[in-house]
Amino acid sequence: METNRLSHALGAEIYGVNIVGDLSNSEVEAIHDAWREHHVIVFRGLELTPAQHIAFSLRFGALDDHAATPHERLDGHPELLEVTNKPKKGQPSQSRNAGRNWHSDYSYTGRPAAASMLYCTEKPPVGGDTMFCNMARAYDDLSDKMKSVVDDFQSVYDFTLVSGAAKRDPAKMVELLKVNPPIAHPCVRTHPDSGVKALYVSERTSHFDGMSRAESAPIIDYLCRHATRPENVYRHQWRVGDLVSWDNRTTMHLALGDFDPSQPRHMLRTTLQGQKSGYVVPPAEP
Ligand code: SIN
Repeated sequence: METNRLSHALGAEIYGVNIVGDLSNSEVEAIHDAWREHHVIVFRGLELTPAQHIAFSLRFGALDDHAATPHERLDGHPELLEVTNKPKKGQPSQSRNAGRNWHSDYSYTGRPAAASMLYCTEKPPVGGDTMFCNMARAYDDLSDKMKSVVDDFQSVYDFTLVSGAAKRDPAKMVELLKVNPPIAHPCVRTHPDSGVKALYVSERTSHFDGMSRAESAPIIDYLCRHATRPENVYRHQWRVGDLVSWDNRTTMHLALGDFDPSQPRHMLRTTLQGQKSGYVVPPAEP
């Protein structure tokens, strides 16, 4: 197996391993090691069936059932979330604006995603890229004083800050907010496998528990700008047949809307279940 780094901060392509075949335990471990080191790994030129996508994902852990999100699942394969601008059953797709702000998957739930594996089946001729940033590096680059401050913070995640929320049917939003009330997670989390500490704050963080929104906003803004500095980002330009797998515990990502919306973009995602975490909090003071 060979790896080819894609940027200084994170991301690597992986070659020389047939992920649709029967992977040996040592091959899975080698992929895991590369993933831990590079945070985002890319396999190119695949022709994955839904069953192969699911089978490969299951080698790395249990899959989330996507109960927290209204996005469509692939017919017959509830493990596969569809992220697409293509209409579904004559209706606009629920995921057509998905991922348009910096986030880590399912951070607004009591079981934030460990990792995600997104497979490109159709893409517009230009654009539709996804950006990733390294949250472990972002934490590491803070001053010791700032680290000691944020180490004590609890980031509150608010489902109304998920991109596209404002365009949703208000009645559906009420139901979604019952499933996803505001929830606090540590602002700095330790990766369960590598022991690396990483920032856990995003554009979906409304405030820090125990602080008002006004007090929290400049710090959230600073941490997000710090984490998403260009030198801490990898921008993935998709090709059909790419499978991009990211670790949600050490990265954030952003799906760019930089393409002609009349051109189809279609992705399928499995999501690896993370550990239970967090506690529900009342909405913040302004
Ligand atoms: C997501 O946030 O999982 C979707 C990313 C993308 O569509 O590029």
